[in-house]
Formats: sequence, C-alpha cells, structure tokens
Amino acid sequence: MGAAAGGSAGDRSSSAGSNRGAHRGALDRSLPTARRGILYGGDWNPEQWGPEVWDEDIALMRRAQVNLVTVGVFSWALLEPAPGVHSWAWLDDVLDRLARAGIAADLATATASPPAWLSRAHPEMLPVTREGATLWPGARQHYCPSSPVYREAALTLVEALARRYGDHPALEMWHVGNEYGCHVAACYCDVSAARFRAWLADRYGDVAALNQAWGTAFWSQAYHSFDEILPPRLAPTLSNPTQVLDFARFSSDELLGCYLAERQVLESLTPTVPVTTNFMGLFRPVDYWRFAPHVDIVADDSYPDPADPLAYVRAAMVGDLMRSLGDGAPWMLMEQAPSAVNWRPRNARKPPGMMRSLSLQAVGRGADGICFFQWRAARAGAEKFHSAMVPHAGAASRTFEEVTALGEELGRLREVVGTSVDASVAILLDWSSWWALEQPSHPDSTLELRAILESWYEPLYRSHVPVDFVSPAGPLGRYRVLLAPNLYLVAAEHAKRLADFVATGGTLVVGPFSGIVDQDDHVPAGPYPAAFREVLGLEVEELAPLADGEVVALTGPLAGSAGSASGWQEVIHLRGAEVLARYATGPLVGMPAVTTRSWGTGQALYVGCGLDAPTLEAVLARAWQGAGVRPLAEAPGSVGVSRRGRFCFYVNTDAAPVEVELAGSPTLVTGGELEEAAGGRVVLRLPGHGAAVVDAGGGEQS
Ligand code: GLA
Repeated sequence: MGAAAGGSAGDRSSSAGSNRGAHRGALDRSLPTARRGILYGGDWNPEQWGPEVWDEDIALMRRAQVNLVTVGVFSWALLEPAPGVHSWAWLDDVLDRLARAGIAADLATATASPPAWLSRAHPEMLPVTREGATLWPGARQHYCPSSPVYREAALTLVEALARRYGDHPALEMWHVGNEYGCHVAACYCDVSAARFRAWLADRYGDVAALNQAWGTAFWSQAYHSFDEILPPRLAPTLSNPTQVLDFARFSSDELLGCYLAERQVLESLTPTVPVTTNFMGLFRPVDYWRFAPHVDIVADDSYPDPADPLAYVRAAMVGDLMRSLGDGAPWMLMEQAPSAVNWRPRNARKPPGMMRSLSLQAVGRGADGICFFQWRAARAGAEKFHSAMVPHAGAASRTFEEVTALGEELGRLREVVGTSVDASVAILLDWSSWWALEQPSHPDSTLELRAILESWYEPLYRSHVPVDFVSPAGPLGRYRVLLAPNLYLVAAEHAKRLADFVATGGTLVVGPFSGIVDQDDHVPAGPYPAAFREVLGLEVEELAPLADGEVVALTGPLAGSAGSASGWQEVIHLRGAEVLARYATGPLVGMPAVTTRSWGTGQALYVGCGLDAPTLEAVLARAWQGAGVRPLAEAPGSVGVSRRGRFCFYVNTDAAPVEVELAGSPTLVTGGELEEAAGGRVVLRLPGHGAAVVDAGGGEQS
C-alpha cells in the first residue's frame, strides 16, 4: 500500500481501509454497537447502595436511554471477602435486573483494587516507588504489576467471574482492570527488579550487548552479570538514560502483561464476548500502540478541564488518537464527567451544552460509545464530589436533563455507527521517543511532548484538516503528509521508512530536536539530526535554546515581516535544502530557521525553532498546498468540524453563538438551526457550546 511500498501519490488519498481493525480479532467478538447503536451509559456502582436505589437507578437509566453500564470495577473486596470465598448474590441480582431492563453489562473483572486480605497476607505484592516508599492499601491500585501473587489472585477471580457470568444474558462486554498505570505506572520493588533483569536478558541476550546499549563505559556503570542490574531507583544524581528508557519500556510491557493474562482467561472461557479496558488519552507510561491491538474496541477516559479554553481542542486530539490506535475502527468514550471532576485543585462544572458538545465531538471523531464516570454520585469516599449522571441533587437537575436529552439524541444517530473518518494527514507518535525526550540533562529539559503536539494540533483543528496519529512503524503510505512535531528518538529502520515515504511522493514536516538519537538514546556519528540529515538536506551544528522570554524575529518567504521564534534555535547549515524563513534578529541572525527540500518525488520541511503560531500555520499551509490536502470546511476557527461518512459534525467551542456557511444541500440531523440565506447560501447557527450533526448527502464535502 501507498508510498512506502512504492505506490503512487494517488494511493495516499484515503485512509479508509475497509479491513481496518480486522487484525484485532474484533470480527470474532461482535460489539454491542452492532445491535444497540451508539453505546450510552456509565460506571454503575450498585454496591454502594441497596436494592431500593437499584430500582430507581434502572428506571432512570431507561428514561435516559442508557443501553450499557460498566459494573463492578471496584468490587473485588465484596465479591471475594476471603481467599476463594465468593459472594455473588448482589451481583447476580444486579445483572438480572439489567437483563430484564434490556441494558447491557460491560462487566468489570474487578481487579483494579485488591482486597485488604491479599496484601495483608502478601505485603510483597505492594508497589514500591523509585524513592523506595511502599504504597499501602486504603486507596486503590495498590499492586505491583509484576507481582505473581497479585496476578494469580486476579486470574483466579477473573476465572470465577467468567464461569459464573459467561452465559448471563446481560453480559455483552468485559472491562478488564481499570486505567492500567493510572496511579502506579511502574514499580521498583525487588520482584519487579528480577522481572526487569529477565526482560533485559531477553532483549539483549548477553550483558555485553546491554553494556553497549546503555553506554555503561560512562561513570563506571559497566555490568558483569544481569544479576547486578536494578531498576533506576533513586540515585545520587542523573540515572543512566537508557536504563530509564528500558525501564519505561519494561514497565509498559508489564502493565500490558497484566491485561493480557486476564484477557487470555476471558478468551478461553467466553470466546464470543468482546474484551476491552480503558485508556487514558495521551498517557505517557503506556505504549498504546502495543496495547491497542489486544482490545476489541479502543476505549478512552477523557476529562478535559471545563475551565480550559482549549478543552475541546485537547479532547479532539485524544479522540483522533483513539481512532488511530484502533487502526481507524470506531472507539468508545468509556468515561467522561457529566460535569465537574473532584481531583483538580478547583473543579469547574461543565457549562450548559458543553457535555453534549464534547460527546458529539467524540462521535464525530469516531466514537461509537459515549459513557460517563459515573452513573450515580457517591455519598461516601474520595470521589463523592465527582459529578454523575444522577447527581446528588437527583433526577430533577440540569445534569440529568442534559443526560436524558443526549441519550435521546444519540439514539437518532444510529446510522453513524461503524462509519469511518478519512484523513490524509497524520501526526507521528512514538512512545520510546516520548520516554527519551522527557528526561533530564537535555539542552532544554522543559520540553514536553504533549504541549508540542497540542501546539501543532491546534492549527489543524482550527483549519478543519482531519488528522490521524501513526506510529513510525505504522501504515505511513496511507497519508499524503506526515507531521513529526517532535521525534527525538528515531530507530534506524524508522528513519528509512520516513525517507522512503518522502522519496515516493510524501510530504514530511519535522519539528525541532528530532532525529537526534537512535533507539538506544545514543547520538549517532556526525552532525544532528542523523535520522533526517539527508532527507531534510541540512546539518545542525549546534542546539541553541533561547532564554525564557527571548523572542527573535524571522524573515523570508514564509514568515513575512511578522514571524518570530522563541524557546529554541539551532545552528543550521544547508546541504541541499532551501530557506523558507531566516532569523532577522538575535544571535543567529541571517541563519536558516525553516527549510524545505525536494527529495525523490516528495518534500521534506524542517522547522528548526520554536515557531510562533501564525508562521507554523503558514508552514502547514504550504505542506497542504504541495500535497493537495483540503480542509473539510470553510468555518470559523472556533468551530470544530469532523466528518464520518456523509455525516458532518460541527462543535462551537466558544460561549458566544456562531454561524457556519455550508456547501451543497445539507440536511440537519440534530442540533443547531439550518437556514437558507440570501444567494442560495445555507447557514448553520450554533448557540454557545452548541453542536450539530448535518447529513451532507453524497460524496461532496460541506
Ligand atoms: C477515572 C477512573 C474512575 C474515576 C474517574 C474520576 O476515569 O477510571 O474510576 O476515578 O477517573 O475522574
């Protein structure tokens, strides 16, 4: 397929491969969406109440058109009060009630919070921090991911659950664990240390290869046996960066291992029930490219801060990532807050409309499920001030009214289910690079990948250019343009894939401090950036971050007279590239800041500085122009636009009303007002935080 395999540029035009997701075995385990349409519901914790509240809960769920609830996430201690002793009666009753009401259960394996008896008998299963502190029970997730005691006890419970409920009519999906790595992303205990050594022996074969990869000639760190190696525990000063990197890889694999062990039990006992777990968006500790092929539907928990002006943009970016993790297949929003969360220092509520608009935005970016944490607000515990579909105020509340209205509206979007999103642009994302980038002792140790990605994503969102994420090892040939806002670490085979992508007609845009180190976090011979020197047609002699607040002016065909850079500069020498912007002031005056090079039949652009937003937009616009990328719509930047099949989604991210002019003869599916204006124009009016879904008809884009 596509450029990487030598196809023509025409191969790049669509990302809607028909067999997307098929590799995950999803076809064997049909998802509840097939019969229920868009999944709608939330985490239901009936164990916190008695049956009289369950009756009301079920009645209210039906009123809100809830069709799926996640049950039992934190119920291990109640389900198994003593080792091997089970107390099923309450869960039997809950699942029976759900089945009678026609509501599906996404039944949790309940392994996210082990019971007190387990850690009392086996304190060695408790996690230990880098500093050597033990994390005790009394909250949740107090387990070492590598602990055989934890894993065995968890699998015993999972097996008992699968045997008891595998044939229950309410069971339509398994929810394994909960938010793997959320609180304990890595454990530094002795058990983990032994597993880390085994992982390293498997990766390197012998200790000489490890010494080479870790560069242990530095600071007398050479190892003579794997037995000498420890996790990167608290040390007098900077730990070995490759040790830290490998420990991040190992820790991510261990969390995946916990999930896979449970999945295996479920697959063998209930082979037709789909299995998932909830991801946490752009979550650094877990490499979701490795994880996602093992879930039957990618599920995400999304909690943008309602007080953040970029809430919609950030949530959209994560939605695009979730779709991409599932290879373009529909995903589900497993958890979001109906209004406020409890865990920020000050927790803003979602203003009227925002919950609905964020939900429709998620659907527009590929979600076939919209669920919440949580169904009913808790009366006790650390999350009692977290919002819920049924808040403390009860059903006679704004929140429940909005919840009910959304349930009705999603029911009308059934035809959207299963449709895909087409993007000809993708952002490159690699977890190893992320782990290596955000380590100390760099020219600028304040660089954060999330912020960098957001600064490149925002102009895409505001100019309505649909975008996927892709791993450097992924299907690059689907795209016309690849963006690498930062790819600090690039393995040699990935560098080759990216060069081939350009050579065969693709456009690659690379951001600063990219291609600097190899997969072992070593700087290869020669000037920076070894991975991209040739394709970009330049050499970087020095990395030269600017002081805080220092801004330098740019000039040249792209920057005009207003462009500027801050934060980062590099001393760039051209080796075939042309200059698009140069420094007009500052220490590097006259030197290149932004470049472009034709390579094969493609184009490689380089941004060698911290560009101001308008100039970055100009760079991207140039990339679109050269590659024939067209935006989805001519809409104001405050409106988020996405498209699934013939359905277009418009989201007003602002508190003020807005108008969007639409092309063609669209019809309104839900939300907003569509009006024929003068000159045959069609205008969509959205209130503040409003959203609409429009049927654009045939192939024409709005
Ligand atoms: C996550 C967890 C939930 C709950 C919420 C609170 O989504 O999965 O159990 O703690 O956060 O926002």
